[in-house]
Amino acid sequence: MAAVWSRRWFFVSVCCFLLLLVVSGTVTEQVLPGSVLEVGWLWLQAVRTVWGRVVDCVTTVPDPYHWKTYVYLAILTSALSGGYIVLFRPLNRIRKLGDIGYIAEGSLTARETANFVQRRRRVGSVPPVYPNGWFAVMESFSLHTGQATTVSILGLNLAVFRDDYGVAHVLDAYCPHMGANLGAGGRVKGNCLECPFHAWRFRGEDGRCTHIPYSDKVPEIAKVKSWPVTEVNGWLYMWYHAEGLDPTWKLPEIEEISNGSWVYRGRTEHMVNAHIEEIPENGADVSHLGHVHGPIIAAGIDLRYMWSKLWSFAQHHWTAGWEPMSAPEAHVGQLRLEHGISLFGVRMPFLDLYVTAKQIGPGVVYLMFESVFGRGMFIHNLTPVEPMVQKMVHNIYVSWTMPVPIAKFYMLGEALQVERDVMIWNNKQYESKPLFVKSKEDGLISKHRRWYSQFYSENSPRLQFKTDSVDW
Ligand code: FES
Ligand SMILES: [Fe+2]
Repeated sequence: MAAVWSRRWFFVSVCCFLLLLVVSGTVTEQVLPGSVLEVGWLWLQAVRTVWGRVVDCVTTVPDPYHWKTYVYLAILTSALSGGYIVLFRPLNRIRKLGDIGYIAEGSLTARETANFVQRRRRVGSVPPVYPNGWFAVMESFSLHTGQATTVSILGLNLAVFRDDYGVAHVLDAYCPHMGANLGAGGRVKGNCLECPFHAWRFRGEDGRCTHIPYSDKVPEIAKVKSWPVTEVNGWLYMWYHAEGLDPTWKLPEIEEISNGSWVYRGRTEHMVNAHIEEIPENGADVSHLGHVHGPIIAAGIDLRYMWSKLWSFAQHHWTAGWEPMSAPEAHVGQLRLEHGISLFGVRMPFLDLYVTAKQIGPGVVYLMFESVFGRGMFIHNLTPVEPMVQKMVHNIYVSWTMPVPIAKFYMLGEALQVERDVMIWNNKQYESKPLFVKSKEDGLISKHRRWYSQFYSENSPRLQFKTDSVDW
């Protein structure tokens, strides 16, 4: 790969050099009767003039009685804040259910349409709704030491807190005394969470009640369920298993994130109305790539309009393959992807992206990429909130040498591509018996379904069609 990159850098450098020669030559011979050196001198003079004006502006005391002062100030403030946002602030793109991926009907708003489509949609015969594995609870930075909060995922109500020693815990939310929600107003005391109602205290690591303010004895049965947790790569995860089994694999720590050579540049958050399996299955569905993700991102996320001729001069190209890994990593599926862009039919090699994505269990993907601007990764976390509602959060980490706007552009590009998938997911039904044709492409989806079935077990909750709730 290193050889490929050095060739690419050489290619980019030669292009830049040729461009410089052509521009300088043109300016020198046709516009100015001077040499390249003279043109350089003129450029220098121009920069000095502009710099002189900037210095004048900054050092001159502004006239508070002139309206122009306020116009300049407003322009300067906007430029500075805009520059700060683009150059330094991490991206944060949030799309809630109904924001995207639905076609507004008649006089309905997009949100009303989303509700309507959800109600009338044929869900299909879906697999169990909560698979077994690690699921993201929240980003580590959003839970401070001594903080407690409520979280509703996997059909559960949970109290999440970080104890006074910095360790995060996830407990079932409802207090066994009289049912108060421990996360809604509960206070952290040492390694325990104190109920906001009568101040019983529950230990984070095992959920046992350790203290009742008005009783010397604490009954043995006074406890709440404590869920196995791990904190890795800036995320708090909990282990969910319908049979109550302990974790059977670990989520790997990414060394570049831990040692700070890759830095955080942004996040996107999407709520998706679909069965959880639809989303990872997209990684093995290589035949949709050229279709849904072919038009460039400038063509938009609405599947109806992205084929406009306006944007047909450019095209994304994808080559992909997916395979399950063998024991002891049988819970991992691997996608290899090569992405390129062509302009007017000519492939632009410096825009190529090489991707290796590891689907680790049912809800976590580590997607590593290499580009001409450096290396980085997306962390994809997918957590079921309700049987047919998924919370999908992506973080991007890149080499600290990669310019922030480039990293944010990658993040935005990825988000816009995913939002096209969201339109498919929000409106489709899960097809338990798909009409596959004999082909490598459809064969991969079958393979993915067989692989993913390892995350369901006998007591995995199923969707009950009559009540739209889960059967335990
Ligand atoms: S309800 Fe929690 S202590 Fe009473
Ligand atoms: Fe897709």
